[in-house]
Amino acid sequence: MSTGCVLVAAGSGTRLAAGSPKAFVVLDGRPLLVHAAERVLRSGVCQHLVLVVPDGRQDESTALVSGLAGAEGVVLRAVAGGADRRSSVAAGLAALPADVDVVLVHDAARCLTPPEQVAEVERAVRTGAAAVVPGVPVSDTVRAVDVEGVPRGGPIDRTSLRLVQTPQGFRREVIERAHALASEHGLPAALAATDDASLAELLGAPVTVVPGREEAFKVTRPLDLALATAVLAQERA
Ligand code: C5P
Repeated sequence: MSTGCVLVAAGSGTRLAAGSPKAFVVLDGRPLLVHAAERVLRSGVCQHLVLVVPDGRQDESTALVSGLAGAEGVVLRAVAGGADRRSSVAAGLAALPADVDVVLVHDAARCLTPPEQVAEVERAVRTGAAAVVPGVPVSDTVRAVDVEGVPRGGPIDRTSLRLVQTPQGFRREVIERAHALASEHGLPAALAATDDASLAELLGAPVTVVPGREEAFKVTRPLDLALATAVLAQERA
């Protein structure tokens, strides 16, 4: 039995407007994909790592990651992603060998996710949870509005809210059945786009929330790159 991580890195990065696929945007001299993979490897919990990258960039990606500390003894594969995140995750799942029983799905865009967070999610699945997500408290006031921007109801009690991060961890049969169900029946775009645990929940699998970390934020917009640069500088200080 072993743990496999599917690291999805095949997005276009339109909102980052950096002129290359997001995972290949350079932060402190190295692509986001490399930062993300390095932290997954440093967690020490994965025996298999599948990089899901834009078609044509598989060899380059494998070469970038294979020399990283922690890569010795980890079986590395790179496969082409799909048109949306869900199909990229499905491509990664299909590349995992039969002996993998715990699966982590992680966004390369969450490139500074601490190794401890990867290990904690893995441990929660190993010790019995079916589906695990890291979540951080919401610090802003949150309101629902209609299409015109008119408030619907009052502010939402933020103490009950969590911003959900990755890696998300699953027993293998849970994530595989969830993805099979999603491709058979189709799903609301909002669910299918970003969150594998929501797919698992559709099967009735309970989702466990473990504490996330601020450093696992997703690089989406140019300001996030400035924040990531600052986080790296702080780590080195
Ligand atoms: O677009 P978004 O920031 O939500 O993407 C989250 C993660 O999913 C990123 O790491 C991105 O590279 C990945 N992704 C993918 N294939 C797609 C779309 C997104 O691997 N078609």
